[in-house]
Amino acid sequence: MKKITIAIDGFSSTGKSTIAKKLAQALNYVYVDSGAMYRAVTYFAIQKGIISNGEVSIEDLIKALPEIQISFKYNEDLGFSETYLNGENVTKAIRTMDISRNVSRIAEVSEVRQKLVEQQQEMGKEKGVVMDGRDIGTVVFPDAEMKLFMTATPAIRAKRRYKELIDRGEEVQYEDVLESEQRRDLIDSTREDSPLKRAADAIEFDNTDMGIEEQFERILAFAKRIIEA
Ligand code: CDP
Ligand code: CDP
Repeated sequence: MKKITIAIDGFSSTGKSTIAKKLAQALNYVYVDSGAMYRAVTYFAIQKGIISNGEVSIEDLIKALPEIQISFKYNEDLGFSETYLNGENVTKAIRTMDISRNVSRIAEVSEVRQKLVEQQQEMGKEKGVVMDGRDIGTVVFPDAEMKLFMTATPAIRAKRRYKELIDRGEEVQYEDVLESEQRRDLIDSTREDSPLKRAADAIEFDNTDMGIEEQFERILAFAKRIIEA
């Protein structure tokens, strides 16, 4: 059967990775979480003191880029890919609020984007890939056969993310999660290099009032129509 490229973009916590993972599993495609790569660079930058309190030393970051190696390894037991930074499993460490607060400042830097986009394009060159992020349909795979732009209201997104963090044992306040997401969305959509925007040929999908299963069934049916066309 024909293999396609599926690009999923949208603001924070709009359910991109949830749908991307399920689609990849159903179609037997590779799932790539491009946000995890920006988060891994941020983790590195925090460890090395290259970023603190949202202030990035751009020069030091650019100098350190050749030292940063990001990879994904599928974990059979867990049923998903884990993220590695220079051989260290950082899957959990990159999901904290501290990383979320800083990542958009790292993702603004063009040299970081160039390095990661190149790797993302390499990972998707054989097609049969589902990738989610901010610039997948506009920059990484502008020729993707299927492009989705996910949306949901800011309040429901923050509520979902808050629940996720609490379930993981992080001590956070709902207001802080909402504020941090809104700040990140603003930086992501107004930066100069590859700002988050809907590609002209992307289908907008609002899941504010939709559960994960209903959303999955609809989007899978849409993907199958494109594959079989
Ligand atoms: O899961 P969530 O939507 O909150 O974020 P993510 O996908 O893990 O992405 C984290 C951050 O990385 C985003 O807020 C962007 O600043 C950056 N990012 C990007 O610039 N381009 C991408 N293709 C993916 C993520
Ligand atoms: O990848 P992104 O940041 O866009 O979002 P996600 O991590 O896939 O989803 C954020 C949270 O919303 C997760 O806890 C999902 O389980 C939840 N979610 C939901 O409750 N209903 C949906 N229709 C989609 C996602």
